Amino acid sequence: MDTEIFALDAENIDKALINKAGNIIKNGGLAAFPTETVYGLGASALDGGAVKKIYAAKGRPSDNPLIIHVCSKEQIFEYTRDVSDTAKKLIDAFMPGPFTVILKKKRVIPDEVTAKMDTVAVRFPENKIACALINAAGVPIAAPSANLSGKPSPTEAKHVIHDMRGRIECIIDGGSCDVGVESTIVDASGEIPVLLRPGGVTYDMLKSVVPETVIDAHVLKSVAADEQPKCPGMKYRHYAPDADVTVVEGEKDAVQKKIRELLYENRNTVTGVLTMYESAYDDAVIISAGKTNREYAKNLFAALRKFDDLGVKVVFAEFCDRDGYGLAVKNRLYKSAGNKVIHAE
Ligand code: TXA
Ligand code: MG
Repeated sequence: MDTEIFALDAENIDKALINKAGNIIKNGGLAAFPTETVYGLGASALDGGAVKKIYAAKGRPSDNPLIIHVCSKEQIFEYTRDVSDTAKKLIDAFMPGPFTVILKKKRVIPDEVTAKMDTVAVRFPENKIACALINAAGVPIAAPSANLSGKPSPTEAKHVIHDMRGRIECIIDGGSCDVGVESTIVDASGEIPVLLRPGGVTYDMLKSVVPETVIDAHVLKSVAADEQPKCPGMKYRHYAPDADVTVVEGEKDAVQKKIRELLYENRNTVTGVLTMYESAYDDAVIISAGKTNREYAKNLFAALRKFDDLGVKVVFAEFCDRDGYGLAVKNRLYKSAGNKVIHAE
């Protein structure tokens, strides 16, 4: 399949091009698009046949449900039922934005979207191109991140082109994503909201609106083979570059000392270091993740892809949980490292 690539400016969206992409979705095709978190791979959320094509294009297990994207708060209630006052508070506080809420679904949402669960994940993105596309399609858009299953999520159009060219009808290039990690997911279908995936809306922000909110145990630990996590996506290996990643966590001097030792032990292979301190290492490819966890979130996935492009085989990632974004970074970083974490002291 030929994949058309449209470059759009969020401040001056070309109507003809956005309508073309909207029509692809309306007619059962796939279009990748930017959001403020990561790029999404969209199909009509009301068309089970179109949604199946998403799973095929990504190589995604069919028991891992998708998020539907809407462009107004009213639309959220069109597709969900029994929304509690607590859920409404979260919706009012964090939508539009990098936030996904899980609610009981109405029947119009096909089983292909929800993997037969009786709940549906709903997101109202703030990104202007994403909103214009949902409007142009005239239907809610089911969209996972636009990467091949298991790979780091795409934060630039070139990552989507790398993974999806030839597999989908179109890719909208809207520049790089601001947040850089996927939306915060909160299950608000029960009495007490449960944070299932940390992201741009931090746990502190959630608690400032609903103090009872709890964190699901699987956010930071891996899922055992016989466990059925609340968020099916938690079962699968995620965010994994080809390189072997190890996290080295702690304060500057201890982290640098440990990484120097590890680089020496791995001197016969191509090594890389993802840094958050002012660090100098010999004979390693260095990529800076930024100084704050906010910057780290924005840069993480692109950096992991870059190491692969440069042929790096072994990566050591400096990390220190410094601000509200730390939980989101830690969740993604630990997964990309297959939970290989060293606490440097
Ligand atoms: O920022 C984002 O959320 C991006 C952009 C494109 O919107 N999307 C995204 O989708 O990250 P995806 O498919 O990569 O991650 C969705 C996660 C999966 O782990 C899935 O298991 C979970 O949401 N999920 C979807 N529906 C669910 C439901 N009804 N109950 C529990 N978890 C659900
Ligand atoms: Mg994903």
